[in-house]
Amino acid sequence: MDGNGRWALGRKLPRSQGHLEGLKAAKRVVKAAAGAGIRYLTLYAFSTENWKRTAEETGFIMGLVKQHLRAEFAFYRENGIRIRHAGNPAGLPADILAELEGALSETRDFKGLQVILALNYGGRDEIIRAFTRLAEKEGALADISEEALSSCLDNPDVPDPDLIIRSAGEFRISNFLLWESAYAEYYISPVLWPDWDEGELNRALEAYRNRERRFGGVKG
Ligand code: IPE
Ligand code: MG
Repeated sequence: MDGNGRWALGRKLPRSQGHLEGLKAAKRVVKAAAGAGIRYLTLYAFSTENWKRTAEETGFIMGLVKQHLRAEFAFYRENGIRIRHAGNPAGLPADILAELEGALSETRDFKGLQVILALNYGGRDEIIRAFTRLAEKEGALADISEEALSSCLDNPDVPDPDLIIRSAGEFRISNFLLWESAYAEYYISPVLWPDWDEGELNRALEAYRNRERRFGGVKG
């Protein structure tokens, strides 16, 4: 979800205003994704590298996440949305972690769209933590396989993404789902994240429908 800062800058507003609008966009897109019958949606909200930003900005984003998790419970219930987390819980402030764990447990049985909040998430960090979990399993290192490592990722039951959408026009991965994205389709849009809505999501889904996925094979 990139482009919050540029959105604000273009309007001579503080970056925090961009994050606030980005949150509204996230809600629009979550609702649209649920309506479109999508089963899993991962929102890259905060990376392991985003801590390089000022304490003011990281504090503001964390505050937004905390507020949002608490305020949106009715929205989750009405739409059957289950909240999950990807990322390193150890690096999260205690109050955010408590709020996050509350949302995870309160929505655990909801059967609709699963929204995976990537918070303090880094693809490399996830792979390292997965290897650490694997190494702790009795005899696991004698039998290293893709399946074994996949089973130690943050959300092993969540399938690999079919489509990865990047807003704000940057052509890079930025440490997102490195392992899981092996055969994901990419959709890069110049539209800044705060301007995203159902229409933008539908354009991305339409582009995806026209892709031919071969997974390294040949057209059959
Ligand atoms: C939001 O966009 C991404 C988050 C880390 C929340 P940015 O804050 O990276 O926006 P730009 O890249 O400065 O426009
Ligand atoms: Mg950015």
